[in-house]
Amino acid sequence: NAATKVAILGFGTVGSSVAQLLRGQKFPGIELTHIYNRGVERKRTGATAKGLNSGIVWTENIQDILKSDVDVVIETIGGIDPIEGWLRKALSSGKHVVTANKQLIAYKGAGLAKLARENNRVLVYNAAVAGGVPVIPATLHGLQGDRITRLSGILNGTCNFMLSHMEQGAEYADVLKQAQAAGYAEADPTADVDGYDARAKLCILVRAAMQIGINPDEVPAQTIRNVSAVDFAYAKELGCTVRQIARAELRGGVLRARVAPMLVPKSSPIAWSHGTQNMVVTSGEFGGDVVFSGHGAGGNPTAVAIVSDLLAVVHGSNSVALPVKKKTVTGEFMAPHYLR
Ligand code: HSE
Repeated sequence: NAATKVAILGFGTVGSSVAQLLRGQKFPGIELTHIYNRGVERKRTGATAKGLNSGIVWTENIQDILKSDVDVVIETIGGIDPIEGWLRKALSSGKHVVTANKQLIAYKGAGLAKLARENNRVLVYNAAVAGGVPVIPATLHGLQGDRITRLSGILNGTCNFMLSHMEQGAEYADVLKQAQAAGYAEADPTADVDGYDARAKLCILVRAAMQIGINPDEVPAQTIRNVSAVDFAYAKELGCTVRQIARAELRGGVLRARVAPMLVPKSSPIAWSHGTQNMVVTSGEFGGDVVFSGHGAGGNPTAVAIVSDLLAVVHGSNSVALPVKKKTVTGEFMAPHYLR
């Protein structure tokens, strides 16, 4: 069988982690053949230094990928324009698409999914929600037998990082800078702090878990810009802290959804999420609550979601069975007295 050829669009925090993961682990049958980025020379030089260059076509002309025989396009650039057009072209020219693009999937996902179906291709976006926490595959598969009536939790790593450090006394501007430097925040952090990032993720989750299509613009989003030390002081008196919470609840046939800084009781598991941790609690009519938690931002956790999606595409299912690797057991693990 010929190897599955893979292109990565965008060689930033996430794209470069995906490349490293693909090159480092040598997943059988998968070959990274193309990388697209603006000003690609600079990226290629950096990658060569990390030993990531051999046998890859580096290009700043997207047509080099759309017109190639690549099987799967991984998109890590973000934003709707021009990405929507590129991915439409990829799907209609027979390529599967794996994307981490939450704004694109939240606003245009239904149309893209339809195009994928028409072309008998797969569109997967596990990495668009909660980074490395597999909540999308879980709601699409593991929980589809239940009727999910509520989704709530923390869907933006930057805000959680900022608020959990502000709770310990740090200043807003300082922690925002730290989140940007660490690569958690969006290029324009407005989307993080004003709630648009979490709102897009909430809409994607609502569609996956409740099969309800909502436009993100319909969901109120309240900024965390005006949260300050005094809010944490009052929250503390009430036994609470402050976190940016995304919440959607279906009651009497009406969906209520919102993203806002909210008081969270210190006894709630949601208050225990520190740093970039995301947490989602799904509430099902039959199965009750299920809690998902882990790193919701950052290159490496997000790359795990992308590569897991890629493997699901390549193996044609979401329950990926990889060949079992032969394990080498070293002497250290075999206590000699067991051998006697
Ligand atoms: N800026 C996003 C966050 C990145 O902070 O959660 C992951 O989507």
